[in-house]
Amino acid sequence: MWGGRFAAGPDAIMEAINASIGFDKRMASQDIAGSRAHAAMLAATGVISDSDAEAIREGLLTVLSEIEAGSFAFSTALEDIHMNVEARLKEIIGEPAGRLHTGRSRNDQVATDFKLWVRDQFDAAEAGLIALIRALLTQAAAGADWVMPGFTHLQTAQPVTWGHHMMAYVEMFGRDLSRVRDARKRMNESPLGAAALAGTSFPIDRHMTAEALGFDRPSANSLDAVSDRDFALEFLSVASISAMHLSRMAEELVIWSSAQFRFVALSDRFSTGSSIMPQKKNPDAAELIRAKIGRIFGANTALMMVMKGLPLAYSKDMQEDKEQVFDAADNWMLALAAMEGMVKDMTANRDNLAAAAGSGFSTATDLADWLVRVLKVPFRDAHHVTGTLVAMAEQKGCDLPDLTLADMQSVHAGITEDVFSVLGVENSVNSRMSYGGTAPAQVREQIARWTALLG
Ligand code: ARG
Repeated sequence: MWGGRFAAGPDAIMEAINASIGFDKRMASQDIAGSRAHAAMLAATGVISDSDAEAIREGLLTVLSEIEAGSFAFSTALEDIHMNVEARLKEIIGEPAGRLHTGRSRNDQVATDFKLWVRDQFDAAEAGLIALIRALLTQAAAGADWVMPGFTHLQTAQPVTWGHHMMAYVEMFGRDLSRVRDARKRMNESPLGAAALAGTSFPIDRHMTAEALGFDRPSANSLDAVSDRDFALEFLSVASISAMHLSRMAEELVIWSSAQFRFVALSDRFSTGSSIMPQKKNPDAAELIRAKIGRIFGANTALMMVMKGLPLAYSKDMQEDKEQVFDAADNWMLALAAMEGMVKDMTANRDNLAAAAGSGFSTATDLADWLVRVLKVPFRDAHHVTGTLVAMAEQKGCDLPDLTLADMQSVHAGITEDVFSVLGVENSVNSRMSYGGTAPAQVREQIARWTALLG
């Protein structure tokens, strides 16, 4: 493509370090869509003839069908997807192919292709997140009033409901969804026509190509257009946060499915066995989801490092953007789908959840609150009285509701029989009616809100 200036071809090692076709062939359909839009625009603005544009647009469809059929011979010597497609187009249609690259550069071309590719991934992530949220809503609705222990420091804290716990994840993935939509909107500007870096002297219409490719507008500065990879970094940041959420949930599923907890049973479809221990059913999908954050966050860090020292505008360093994003996207989508599958299939063990909910003095706060509310004891004193009663129960090897009234009164004389009404876990969760609280009525309100939001 630049033979005019060069006497010798590249060294094999130069070719190896320079070529990106091994991975950027994933952007073939985006490359062809961009070129088809560019050719149509060149004809509409009179830069090339209608017949040349028609030959180019038709020829590009032939190239696309060859790539889709797997019969296209990708060449490393031709470096990247842009030159592979153009060279093949030349073989198919001849001379008019040489007019396609008028008023553009590979710099705006690659930025356009990559943006189109990342935009598709934002859309896929949106769909994946919505599917996962729906699966969580189904779980939440089924067990809106099932009691379970809530934890802080992974120590029993206060009883909560299964529905409430599922809805916590809905909020987390809901924020991911909002970040996806937000970032997609911001990135939807077309770099095409920025050319190498300075724009072009041809009377091109960047609004026309932007519209044809589904962009909201052309980007407003040609230097920025070819050197900006914020869209990829935002994708990786959103993916990283979402992968972190997935990882936290995966960790809970690993704990919950253990023999020590038995809060949930994962389905056979999303578990594996052991080759030596016949009794084993391992939560491998959850473990792998838990690990995905490593490579996704790694991709985010890697691309940050690639970009941080680059002078404007394009530098070849930026070719290192794609593999990171491809890998992160593949693994984020896979993790979302696997989590959706696990959530859909898993069975919460209502009895075990309820038994655990009442253990560990989980209603101690309810007891303290009762002392404040009914006996008008200052909260700090109520905390102390309750702590003494917890220590007593611990010593006796029983739970709080198993203490006798006499036991209670030995610590605070004013306590009456009425206190036992607040020591049950059902009462505890039902009483937490503050907005966003764990009471089933509150949980159902949030389920309804999310169901309406998703439509
Ligand atoms: N393969 C290149 C990339 O991925 C395309 C752009 C090359 N531009 C250039 N001026 N060498 O970034």
